[in-house]
Order: sequence, then C-alpha cells, then structure tokens
Amino acid sequence: MTSVSVPPRKRLYIRTFGCQMNVYDSGRMADVLAPLGYGPVETPEEADMVILNTCHIREKAAEKVFSDLGRLRVMKEAKAEQGQQMVLAVAGCVAQAEGKEIVTRAPWVDIVLGPQTYHRLPEMVARAARAAGAQIDTDFPVETKFDLLPAPQASQGPIAFLTIQEGCDKFCSFCVVPYTRGAEFSRPVAAIMAEAKALVAGGAREIALLGQNVNAWHGEAPDGSTWGLTRLLYALAELENLPRIRYTTSHPRDMDAGLIRAHGEIPQLMPFLHLPVQSGSDRVLEAMNRGHKADMFIRICDELREARPDMALSSDFIVGHPGEKPEDHAATMTLVERVGFALAYSFKYSQRPGTPAAGQPFQVAEAIKDERLQELQALLRIQQDAFNESCVGQECEVLFTGPGRHPGQVMGRTPWLQPVHALGPASLIGGTARVRVAVRFPNSLSATLLDQKELACA
Ligand code: SAH
Ligand code: SF4
Ligand code: F3S
Repeated sequence: MTSVSVPPRKRLYIRTFGCQMNVYDSGRMADVLAPLGYGPVETPEEADMVILNTCHIREKAAEKVFSDLGRLRVMKEAKAEQGQQMVLAVAGCVAQAEGKEIVTRAPWVDIVLGPQTYHRLPEMVARAARAAGAQIDTDFPVETKFDLLPAPQASQGPIAFLTIQEGCDKFCSFCVVPYTRGAEFSRPVAAIMAEAKALVAGGAREIALLGQNVNAWHGEAPDGSTWGLTRLLYALAELENLPRIRYTTSHPRDMDAGLIRAHGEIPQLMPFLHLPVQSGSDRVLEAMNRGHKADMFIRICDELREARPDMALSSDFIVGHPGEKPEDHAATMTLVERVGFALAYSFKYSQRPGTPAAGQPFQVAEAIKDERLQELQALLRIQQDAFNESCVGQECEVLFTGPGRHPGQVMGRTPWLQPVHALGPASLIGGTARVRVAVRFPNSLSATLLDQKELACA
C-alpha cells in the first residue's frame, strides 16, 4: 500500500535574519501556523504567506528588511492580479523597534509582530484576512509565549536549538537587544527538559541551548528550588542519545567557577565556546557598560583551557565604539594575540536609535573604523587559519547532518563547529563517526572516515 501525503493547503515562506534565537523563533512560528494548514515552501514566489523574521542589531541588518519588502511588494501585486493572496508579516527585532514605521514605509505589510507575541499569530492572520489595514502587535505580554506555543512539531534534525533564556538586563551602551527582546526571562527546568527529550526523540544528537545571556539562566526546578546553567547541563548530560551539548551566547560576567569546571567534567559539553569580549581596552569596556575588564576575560579563557585542554574559543568584537582611541584599538589587538581565537565575528560600531552610545560625542569616523576592522580581521583570519591547520592530520568525531554538495559526500560538524565533508554513505547522517581531517579550506574541512564498521553496515 502506498501512503498518500496530503499537501498542506497553504504555503508558508519564512526568511530569517540575525541570531540563532531568530532561527529558533522561525521554527516555532512554523509550528504555530501548522494547525492552520500552513506548510513550508522554498521560495517566496510560491507562498501564500511570507514572514520576514528580522534583526535590528546593526543598521545594515535592519535596512535589508526594507529592500526585501520592496521586492515582496512586486510579488504580492503580481499575485493579486491573478486573484491570489499573499499575507505579508514582519516579525522579530525590527518589528519590535520600528512597528508603526514599518507600515508607514511599507503599507503593503499586513502583520507586524514582535518576538514576544508570535503565539498570537493565528489570531492576527485571521484578523488580517477580515480587516483592511495592518495588524500590529509588539507588546511585551504578561503571558509568556512559551506557555502558549504548541509542542515543537517539525524535527530540527541532528543539530537542534532550544531557547532557555531570552531578553537582556545588561544594557551595553551600543546594543538594542534589551529594548527589542525585553527583560531577562528564564524558562523553567521542566519545560526545558521536556523539550530536550522531544528533540532527542526526533533525532537531535546535539542540542544548543540558546539565550541572549544564556549563562545568566536561572530556572525554577520542579521542587521549587532555582537551578543555574551548570546544574541544567549536568541534568541534560544524563539524557541518553545526546552525545553533544552546547550553549550560546554567554556573557563573560556570568562565567562562574562551577560552569568553567563543568567543561572539564561533562564530556558531552563540546570543547568550543562563544564568549563575546567586544574590546580589549578597559576604558572602552567601561564606556560599553560591559561589567568586565580585559584581564578578567583573559583569566576566564585560561581557566576554560585548563579545565578542557582542547577548548577552542570564539568571540565578538566591535571596533570604533564612540571614544575609541588608537591605544584602545591596540589593546584589542593585544588581547586577540594573547587569547588566540578559533573563530570570531567583528563589526564596525553601528549607531542604533535609542541606545546610550548613539548620542555620545566622539563618534569615530567611518574611514578609521574601516581601517581598524581590516587590521583586526586580518589577525583573526590568521588565527582561524592556524586553528583549522592544527586540525589537519588529527582524528576527531563528526556529527553528520546531511548530504554534501557532491554525490557520495556527507556533511557534518566537528566538536569545534567546523563544517566538514567526507566521502561516505548517507546512512551516516544523524549520527557521529570518527574521521581524520585531510584538508582545510578557508571556512571548512574535508576528512576521511575512520570508522569502517559504520561503512560495513551501510
Ligand atoms: N548577547 C550577546 C550578543 C548580542 S548581539 C553578548 O552579550 O555579547 C551580537 C553581537 O553583535 C554583539 O556581540 C556585538 O559584537 C554586535 N553588536 C551589537 N550591537 C552592535 C552595534 N550597535 N554595532 C556593531 N555591532 C554590534
Ligand atoms: Fe546586548 Fe550587552 Fe545584552 Fe549582549 S549583554 S544582548 S551585547 S546588551
Ligand atoms: Fe538581531 Fe534581535 Fe537577534 S536584534 S541579533 S535578531 S536578538
């Protein structure tokens, strides 16, 4: 008997910008819309509903949304001419920050919803179908979306994200997140454990716990006590069939001794940590309101490497924060030399409306920002290449996540998050296997399989 799969009645296209939190949210929006008959499609042209899940972190990210909206207007009008509808929604952090302005600049948008209200999406879709004019919902509601969302429906595959914490109370001078995502909120232990078990049952072999300040998570346990992230990591390590755990993004201020120790004690905790430092100058760190100094950051990195000698570190940097002088930039370069990063993201400071740094005098000229960014990125590139080079000839375990670009290839991730491809059977996908790294490319590796047993079974 052949099973007939019923195509979804309505087609949904979601484009995701920004951080992993948005990737997670896009998945949950698809979950919320599935009971209404919406199923995913690959391109906006085929969709009955398009959601742009947006990012406001830098000006460029926010502006991309408006260029996308211009293109979508043409598609929406072409559809209307054929008597078809396209519901257009803007979600995420630009929606939160610029709610009304979006519909003023792009009146063809039907729905604007913030990151905390997407559990109300079905209601908004229904209202948008009935009423003319855009529906806007950018509340920070008292009910939390996590309590009202359906259980995750679609399997995320071998690598899954699980949001455990949202929002931020740290108010770094340059950052919009406390305004777009609201106050810090931690999900309770039971909800996280239930979601983790469901993800593993759906095939996840690596779970990345997500939060804007994930190591500030403190959730209520079933016995009424409060757990910190370290305790949660030990509990997750008890789950069967979950060989890999990560957490991101951490704040240096909340890296306590117990959490550092856990890296030496929990084998499932992958030896790679993203720990944004932003600057190596204490004067700039203070102006940024980061609450940590360069020395403290260096000490944490040293302690992490003591706890787990194969630990690789990644970080975020901002060059050209208001008031940054040549000696501050030099201090950043010194910190990078001292720590050594396997991966890093670096940005020119971007003035964000409503943030304290935006109004400060002594904004750094664009040309100087360009120069500093180039210098920093050149050093970070050398370090990334050196790290990848150090992997060549080494054995490691890879979690295979999908087919490679070429026939007969499979793709996966090393413990240090490097993308890696190898020749091997598709049956490897969804599990781990040992490889030897053969060649490094600028942003990925190729490897040969060592585990012939797996091959023999395939
Ligand atoms: N919660 C994380 C990161 C949040 S945003 C943390 O505390 O570090 C991701 C990165 O974007 C930041 O680490 C920072 O490097 C960068 N970023 C944030 N605001 C920025 C701005 N106004 N200009 C340039 N880069 C910015
Ligand atoms: Fe933004 Fe700072 Fe909060 Fe990170 S800690 S989200 S950079 S305000
Ligand atoms: Fe961007 Fe919002 Fe994430 S501003 S980085 S999508 S929290």
